[in-house]
Amino acid sequence: MSISFEGKVAIVTGAGNGLGRSHALALAARGAKVVVNDLGGARDGSGASSEASQEVVRLIEAHGGEAISHGANVANFDEVQDMVNQTMEKWGRVDILINNAGILRDKSFSKMTLDDFKLVMDVHVMGSVNCTKAVWEIMRAQNYGRIVMTTSSSGMYGNFGQSNYGAAKMAVLGFMNTLVLEGAKNNIRVNALAPTAGTRMTEDLMPPEIVQAFAPEAVTAGMLTLCDEEAPNRFILCAGAGGYSSAGMFETEGCFIPEHKQSPETVLEHWSELTDQTGQAALISGDKQGEKFVLKAMAFMKSQQK
Ligand SMILES: NC(=O)c1ccc[n+]([C@@H]2O[C@H](COP(=O)([O-])OP(=O)(O)OC[C@H]3O[C@@H](n4cnc5c(N)ncnc54)[C@H](O)[C@@H]3O)[C@@H](O)[C@H]2O)c1
Repeated sequence: MSISFEGKVAIVTGAGNGLGRSHALALAARGAKVVVNDLGGARDGSGASSEASQEVVRLIEAHGGEAISHGANVANFDEVQDMVNQTMEKWGRVDILINNAGILRDKSFSKMTLDDFKLVMDVHVMGSVNCTKAVWEIMRAQNYGRIVMTTSSSGMYGNFGQSNYGAAKMAVLGFMNTLVLEGAKNNIRVNALAPTAGTRMTEDLMPPEIVQAFAPEAVTAGMLTLCDEEAPNRFILCAGAGGYSSAGMFETEGCFIPEHKQSPETVLEHWSELTDQTGQAALISGDKQGEKFVLKAMAFMKSQQK
């Protein structure tokens, strides 16, 4: 089955370099009209330039595609709103949003300033929030929307020196989980990509031959499945160097301890039962956890009445 984006309008943030560039080129090659957003700053978020995003637009046009560039800083809602307004004026809809823009300010937590923490949260979290907010009502009115968050193994599992980045990358998954619930009735699907790619973000972490193996295009191939008409919903796709996997959060069935026995000692006594992964499940919303505990308490009360 061939995936086409013919007739679709896509916004890709941070599309002047690396993964975003690859996503924008691939979406355009498959028919999408693309907004190539990029602030054009350095890896740590300093500076700005429109050169890289304009080059991506030129490449798309040279291959017969349609694209515009916009230099919005995703952390600034007014600039993002201007980008979305220009998109609507030109093409009248927004079908796809790829929240990809990102920066790094790596330091161990002990050496990290709060400004380094806040800036990284601002670009990754508020950047994704601002762009999503600016397209959300448009997607609701269209009864169609596909949004991809860019998360990271650093957020899901941790990485030395990246407490700011890891917190931000996990936050976008929390954002996704509720958007999935609120967007469902308007056919808005939200997924997340956890990439590994040889880009300027990782070039000094990988030897050159590994950088080559981790081509952004390998990640983009997976990303495109998260934003087409048949896209899944709430899926976390991990991709890098031709490897693809999925990640998820599961909760064990757990145990029940009656009120008169609830103490840290009895919780510890039940540790193997509460951590037993047999029958663990991915909960579809937060209230399912409360529901599970109420059912356990009710089952206990019933057993006492017999
Ligand atoms: N490369 C990896 O292995 C890897 C791993 C996990 C997650 N990621 C994530 O993938 C995304 C892309 O990373 P990359 O490796 O392609 O990095 P990159 O540095 O090559 O590209 C990021 C782009 O985002 C742009 N950008 C930064 N701040 C911006 C802002 N405020 N507004 C608009 N544009 C902005 C930059 O100018 C740059 O062009 C990021 O969210 C990153 O955190 C990358």
